[in-house]
Amino acid sequence: MSNATTQRRILSGVQSSGTLHLGNYFGMMRPALELQDSCECFYFIADYHSLTSNPAPQQLRERVLGVAMDFLACGLDPQRTVFFRQSDISEVTELAWILSCITPMGLLERCHSYKDKVARGIAPNHGLFAYPVLMAADILIYQANGVPVGKDQKQHLEVTRDIAIRFNNQYGELLTVPDPMIRDEVAVVPGLDGQKMSKSYGNAIELFAPEKAARKKIMSIVTDSTPMEAPKNPDTCNVFALYKLMATPDEVAALRQRYLAGGMGYGHAKQALFDCYWAYFQAARTRRAELEKNLDYVEGVLRDGAVRARAAATQTMANVKRAVGLA
Ligand code: ADP
Ligand code: TRP
Repeated sequence: MSNATTQRRILSGVQSSGTLHLGNYFGMMRPALELQDSCECFYFIADYHSLTSNPAPQQLRERVLGVAMDFLACGLDPQRTVFFRQSDISEVTELAWILSCITPMGLLERCHSYKDKVARGIAPNHGLFAYPVLMAADILIYQANGVPVGKDQKQHLEVTRDIAIRFNNQYGELLTVPDPMIRDEVAVVPGLDGQKMSKSYGNAIELFAPEKAARKKIMSIVTDSTPMEAPKNPDTCNVFALYKLMATPDEVAALRQRYLAGGMGYGHAKQALFDCYWAYFQAARTRRAELEKNLDYVEGVLRDGAVRARAAATQTMANVKRAVGLA
């Protein structure tokens, strides 16, 4: 448990349901990776959560490794950070069950991520409905103090806090109540269509897409119909919103001037965005290509992370089981 003398423990997870994109990077990965310098970090690949969409087994296995390579390429340091696969610590599902038994149905019925998925025609299974309880278990089993996430996860963090407080009231102060860490400036990164960028909306720009595919996507970003000669508003433009994430302050100021001055077509802004994106991830792209040739190393990192994660998880589980009367 946290107290003034222990270091802050940070934890976050990302599903292995596809390749990672700019929304994942700026909303969650970059803030999470920056915290490696000052905090004890636990980051994991949420493969149990990905099972809610019933992926093909081989695809699930491959995607876990893909996400692991994305993180390592972007600067996750496995010496400092505990980096692991969620399903390697199966105790988390045991905690999820215990927490389920104190979670009111109404709390889960209110979750909009579940309601959104059902509204988009995804056939709901029990795993999808119970997803926030497993997420609470992920966080509480490691006694995390802070959880860096994008804004879409805010409600899940509220559910986690609610469950932790209920547990502590009923069984004693065993679980750390975590704080969400959401950065306003990157809370929602827009996709090609201006909606939240998401793997499941088909509007994502992947971190490591091949050059041609990435250029094509960037050229397809939706813009308004202001004519070429007319001044344009940078603050309502998706292209500019993405450019701001990756360009230097001077470059941002220069492109802003070109929007305001008129005489620049959106094609020019898109080209500037592509160049900036390509350069921004160049070093990571090179590292990722190296990792792809060394999958044994990637597997080894996850195995080592699981050993360190298990040590923290088993301690919480022993206390929780004793407290609820199971052990
Ligand atoms: P997706 O919506 O693509 O399936 P995930 O749900 O796996 O992405 O999200 C992983 C992390 O990335 C979460 O912390 C989430 O909040 C963050 N994230 C995802 N998309 C965005 C976005 N468009 N803007 C900001 N953060 C995002
Ligand atoms: N639900 C998160 C998402 O879709 C992934 C996740 C699972 C997570 N467990 C977590 C994030 C615990 C933070 C903490 O993005």
